[in-house]
Amino acid sequence: GEAIIAELKEQKEVQHFCKMWILGDKRKVNSKHGMILFEDIIGKNPGDTYITSTGTEMIIRRPSLEEFTLQMKKIAAIPHPKNNNTALCLLDVSPGDWVLECGTGSGAMTLFLSRAVGVTGRVISFDSKEDHLNRAKRNYRLWMDSWKLSHETDWPDNVTFHQADVINATDKVKHLLDGAFLDMLTPNIGLRAVLPIIKPGKVIACHIVNMTQVVDLVASILKHQLPVVVEQVLEVEHRNWLVTPA
Ligand SMILES: C[S@@+](CC[C@H](N)C(=O)[O-])C[C@H]1O[C@@H](n2cnc3c(N)ncnc32)[C@H](O)[C@@H]1O
Repeated sequence: GEAIIAELKEQKEVQHFCKMWILGDKRKVNSKHGMILFEDIIGKNPGDTYITSTGTEMIIRRPSLEEFTLQMKKIAAIPHPKNNNTALCLLDVSPGDWVLECGTGSGAMTLFLSRAVGVTGRVISFDSKEDHLNRAKRNYRLWMDSWKLSHETDWPDNVTFHQADVINATDKVKHLLDGAFLDMLTPNIGLRAVLPIIKPGKVIACHIVNMTQVVDLVASILKHQLPVVVEQVLEVEHRNWLVTPA
């Protein structure tokens, strides 16, 4: 049940080979760089070198949460971790906070929020689609189980999943919120649904994939005279470098 990452030891490209597996019933995995036998991994330390059946040197280690979310199975597109982590900063999520998220999707941001609010906080996650919620719950469970095996402590069980349209948020959420993260096609609908239950002065961060939707959202805020300030419209850059000294 533990998630592991295998990556090429010698990195020749910016996007080098790096793949995640869940150790379990399968006894081996194949890749274009050869076969890895699970029984040979037992007893190694994270970061140790593993030689595949074709003689390729791999590093075997545990994935970070960022890597897990990038490599886990998805049913809906996830924001890149650079965006999720920027949203966490903008929201200023802290241990003990209650935050709402819509939609749950594949559950990537759910995991980041779960870590940020900790054992004393709560993530309330809405998605109208059952299959999306099921995928997110499976990903959450996989990460929790893997965490427990590698850390011998429990990951916080702090997420409430609601299969519902976020317009019903006020019916379902009876606790004032410290923040909300909206990653949905119609954030203007989510924004209006969340406003009555958000604490004064708190932040609603929206992940929006194109400028047309940003303009629509800002226009909707003006049209409905919503009591919010558009503080920042931000594009997050992230560039990998491959450094190969002579
Ligand atoms: C891009 S995905 C979210 C991905 C998610 N942030 C993640 O990290 O995996 C958008 C999700 O919003 C859900 N959604 C869209 N409109 C909704 C609404 N009005 N109420 C509830 N869920 C909604 C969709 O079903 C979809 O699963």
